[in-house]
Amino acid sequence: MFGPPGAGKGTQAARLLDEFNLLHIATGDILREAVQQSRPLGLKAREFMDRGELVPDDLIIPIVEEKLGLNRDKGFLFDGFPRTIPQARMLEETLGRLELEINRVVFLDTDQEVILKRLSGRRVCEQCGETYHVTNIPSKRAGMCDRCNGKLVQRDDDKEETILKRLGVYREQTEGVLGYYRDKGVLLNVDGSLSIEETYPIIRASLK
Ligand code: AP5
Repeated sequence: MFGPPGAGKGTQAARLLDEFNLLHIATGDILREAVQQSRPLGLKAREFMDRGELVPDDLIIPIVEEKLGLNRDKGFLFDGFPRTIPQARMLEETLGRLELEINRVVFLDTDQEVILKRLSGRRVCEQCGETYHVTNIPSKRAGMCDRCNGKLVQRDDDKEETILKRLGVYREQTEGVLGYYRDKGVLLNVDGSLSIEETYPIIRASLK
């Protein structure tokens, strides 16, 4: 799943995981868990995340290499990775060694106005990680998760100033990865302004 911050990568990934037998590798989720548990990775990554910058490749690549060693029977769903050309190259090399390849790169092509609305209204369950939106996908009881009754909170990097920084970083450092996959013929371009329900069947059909 590829796209700017707030494009809906995690939301669509959750639907794909419900239907396909895939191991989810979401580098943002892995980093946030490491921050929450005050692990050495989290302590190093936090300053970059709080500033809306990318965490350096030398911290990210080993995390993904470790996950790739976990399960050969399932396919993998990468969410928010790779975000730089070195990350894309490492992924290709490692998958090659495992005799696996990338089948599809889903690009949720979303403009800034839509992103700002989505991220400023996003709420996440601090217990199970389920994602909501104050108007698009509200929980049944305000401030509480429908799934586990956990408290819904705003992510630290969802402040407007940090969102704008993340968008700038995306344009400067990540957008170029699109060309890498376009050249390989695996890119699916999806209009990111569509609703969640309109988007999912398009992605699903491209994977079947
Ligand atoms: P990460 O967690 O990956 O954040 P991101 O890429 O900025 O993406 P988001 O999680 O913000 O958005 P999303 O596209 O998943 O949208 P969502 O589905 O939640 O990364 C965080 C940080 O970690 C980075 O800034 C960086 O520091 C670091 N990091 C992570 N990976 C890294 C890497 N590989 N290399 C280096 N650093 C890395 O949807 C957003 C909202 O919109 C939700 O409220 C949702 O309910 C709503 N919504 C979704 N789809 C729709 C729709 N179609 N219509 C209406 N509302 C919708």
